[in-house]
Amino acid sequence: MFTVVPLPQVSPDDAAAWHAVVAASLAGDLPEEPRPTFEQVHAQLTVIGRDNRRLLWQATGTDGSVIGVAGLRLFTSPGQRHLAELELHVRPDRRRSGVGSHLLATAVEAAQAERRRSLITAVAGGGPGDAFCAVRGFRQVLALDHLLLDVARADDAAADAQHPGYELACWTGTVPDGLAEAFAAAKNSMNDMPTGEMDYGSQAWTADRVRAMAEVLADRGDVLLTTAALRTGEMAGYTEIVIRAGETRRALQYDTVVVPAHRGHGLGLWVKAEMVRRLRAEHPAIVEIETDNAQDNAHMLAVNRQLGFRPHRSTHEYQLDLPTT
Ligand SMILES: CC(C)(COP(=O)(O)OP(=O)(O)OC[C@H]1O[C@@H](n2cnc3c(N)ncnc32)[C@H](O)[C@@H]1OP(=O)(O)O)[C@@H](O)C(=O)NCCC(=O)NCCS
Repeated sequence: MFTVVPLPQVSPDDAAAWHAVVAASLAGDLPEEPRPTFEQVHAQLTVIGRDNRRLLWQATGTDGSVIGVAGLRLFTSPGQRHLAELELHVRPDRRRSGVGSHLLATAVEAAQAERRRSLITAVAGGGPGDAFCAVRGFRQVLALDHLLLDVARADDAAADAQHPGYELACWTGTVPDGLAEAFAAAKNSMNDMPTGEMDYGSQAWTADRVRAMAEVLADRGDVLLTTAALRTGEMAGYTEIVIRAGETRRALQYDTVVVPAHRGHGLGLWVKAEMVRRLRAEHPAIVEIETDNAQDNAHMLAVNRQLGFRPHRSTHEYQLDLPTT
């Protein structure tokens, strides 16, 4: 027996209970993976996004303990107002008794009330989420390979390559004002990233929006590092790394982009190799970088393999098409 209730405000106790469920769920399905810290989960639940808002629910057992959680991210920017993203976890000892299905039905009802046409979710490849999504009407729309790079052993030789006419720029946190417009223009090139059959929509970046996104990361206590290749005022490409609040060893790869007109010259490898050197110098405690690539993103996978990234695990992205009225 259990009850599902919305969580309109998140107290520290709510965040602790949420964290406990997610940590137990991940420990069961991905035992090798580092668990998110309490501060990361607390920030995820409480820091207000600039291009999305969240609806949260928890399922409690008869003893009042939280046994399952569901979060629905409702995108608010113009190209993505059709989209909602689901995070759903049930404590391993309380699975297969309908908790996940009840939380999903609650989230689906809310997504429909918000006039969303597509509900997406990511599950560990080969885990229980695959079977659950299959019986609940989702279809798999994308497969992602997660890769890990051992920073100490990474091949960073490409950082020394000559790229006449191009120069490197590095910053931490918000983009410098003089580069903000060029950075937004380069970010718009992420819209051709392979997203399989996912109804992901598109994001229109402006200088204000890139600043706002950097603020969200700073509000969460995360560190954002960017290394870019510039050519006569234009940004030809860039790569971003995030070190989440409280993280002691692993950094996460965010965007890597080379603008179409500048592709084919090794600039992606250049900025990423330079980023490896930067991480070693500025964040020596970080020993590995995790990235995820669509399995059909051959160019990005080739760059990553050259740096020394190794396959680690996979994620399956699922989509549920919601009837619109
Ligand atoms: C996926 C998850 C949310 C399912 O929660 P749950 O409470 O066990 O789900 P339910 O009891 O409602 O299961 C509904 C049906 O899904 C299928 N299913 C769920 N887990 C399954 C498994 N491990 N193997 C095979 N089928 C499974 C079954 O058909 C099940 O019905 P049944 O138990 O009557 O056979 C839970 O396993 C979990 O937290 N996994 C880790 C995170 C994740 O993958 N989230 C999914 C995001 S959508």
